[in-house]
Amino acid sequence: MGNTLVGQSGGPTAVINSSLAGVIRCVKDMQIGKVYGMHNGIEGFLKDDVIDIDDHITDLRDLSLLKRTPAAYLGSCRYKLPEVEGHEEVYKKIFDLLKKYDIDNFLYIGGNDSMDTVYKLSTYAYEHGRSERFIGIPKTIDNDLPVTDHCPGFGSAAKFVATSMKEIIRDNYSFGATEPKLCVVEIMGRNAGWLTAASALAKDEDGPGPDLIYLPEVPFDMDLFLSRIKDLTKRKRCVVVACSEGIHLEDGTLVCEMGDYYEHVDAFGHKMLSGAGRVLANAIGRETGYNVRNVELSILQRCAAHMASRVDVDEAYNVGYLAVQAADRGETGKMVTIQCVNREPYYVNYTLTDVRSVATIEKKVPREWITADDAYVTRDYIRYASPLLIGTILPYEARGVPKHMSL
Ligand code: F6P
Repeated sequence: MGNTLVGQSGGPTAVINSSLAGVIRCVKDMQIGKVYGMHNGIEGFLKDDVIDIDDHITDLRDLSLLKRTPAAYLGSCRYKLPEVEGHEEVYKKIFDLLKKYDIDNFLYIGGNDSMDTVYKLSTYAYEHGRSERFIGIPKTIDNDLPVTDHCPGFGSAAKFVATSMKEIIRDNYSFGATEPKLCVVEIMGRNAGWLTAASALAKDEDGPGPDLIYLPEVPFDMDLFLSRIKDLTKRKRCVVVACSEGIHLEDGTLVCEMGDYYEHVDAFGHKMLSGAGRVLANAIGRETGYNVRNVELSILQRCAAHMASRVDVDEAYNVGYLAVQAADRGETGKMVTIQCVNREPYYVNYTLTDVRSVATIEKKVPREWITADDAYVTRDYIRYASPLLIGTILPYEARGVPKHMSL
C-alpha cells in the first residue's frame, strides 16, 4: 500500500484547509499509508519540497483547528505544467519523485487551472503505463468550475460579500440628510460574476440590497451607468453599487485598466484585476460632486474564515475525504463534484467527473439569471446561492482573535 500526496494550488479560500483536513482524516480512517504535502503545490514538489504531515498534524484537535484556518496551509502556486512534448524532463522528475515517496494517490485541491495539472499528469501516467492515481478536489471563490453545482470556497466568500454589503449599506444610510452618500464595492471572481452576484443576498426585510450589480458576463456601458446613478441620487439618499473586478466595455477594454492600472500577468495568462471600483467611484464623483467611496474587498473575501459558511466548510471537507476514497478505488483523471439534490431543504450528493471536462474551462453566470437591464440578478440566482451561505463555524480564539494552524 502506497502513500498519498496532496497539494493546494491557485487562489486560496477560507475553506481550502477543510478539504486538506478531509484528505488527512480519510487516509487515517482507511489506514492506507502516510500523507505527504506539496509545499507550494506542484511548483514546490518539482523542487522536492515535501512535507510529512505526521510531523505537523497529529490529532483531532489539529484537524479541527486546520478546518478553521484560512489560506493554503501547505502553500499554493500558480504554476502551469508545460506540455509533455519538449518538456519530458519535467514529467520524468515528477514521476521519479512520486516513486521516491511511494505515492499511489496524487490529490490536487484547486480551480480550473489546477485541474489542468491533474489532467496532464493523469494522461501522462496512462500513456506511460504508470499506476498512480490523480484526483482533483474542487476549490475556488470564483465558483466558475463546470459540472459541479458549485465550488467549495464560494459559499464562504459569498457569505462575506453579502454580509459586508449589508453592513456597508447600513453605514451609508447613517448619512445622506443633506446630500446623497455613495459607495462602489469591488468584488473578485475574475471573468465570472458568481461572487459579485452574492451582494444581492444582502437584501432582506430588515434592509435593502445594493442598487446596481455589474457582472463581467455583460458589457459595461459607462454613460448608461452614470445616467442611472444621477437618476438614483434624485430619489435616494444612499446609493451602493457592486461591481466585479473583471467588468469590461463592449470592445473588451477592462474597466480597471481605465484607471491608474499596474499590469501583472500570471503563468496562465490571467491579468491581475484590480481597480474597476475606483474607476467607477471617480467617474461618479466627477459627474455628481457627491461623497463617494470605493471599497475593494480584495483578499479579505477569500480569507475570512471567521465568517465561513458551515455548509461550505462541511462540503470542502467531504470533497477531500471522498477524493481519497475515489483514488483508493482506482479512479484517476477525475475531479470530485457536488450535485444538488434539493435546494430547500438543502441536500447534495457527490459524484466524479472527467477532469478533462473541467480543466481550464470557466462557467459563467447564465444570461437569464441577469436582469434585462444588465444591472442586477434574478430570483433564480438568489435561490441557487442562498443555501450555500447557511450556518457558521465558530473560530477558536485567543484574546478575542481567531487562532490559526501554521506550518
Ligand atoms: O481565482 C481566485 C481569485 O481570488 C480571483 O477571484 C482573483 O482574480 C484572483 O484569484 C486574484 O489572485 P491574486 O491574489 O494572486 O492576484
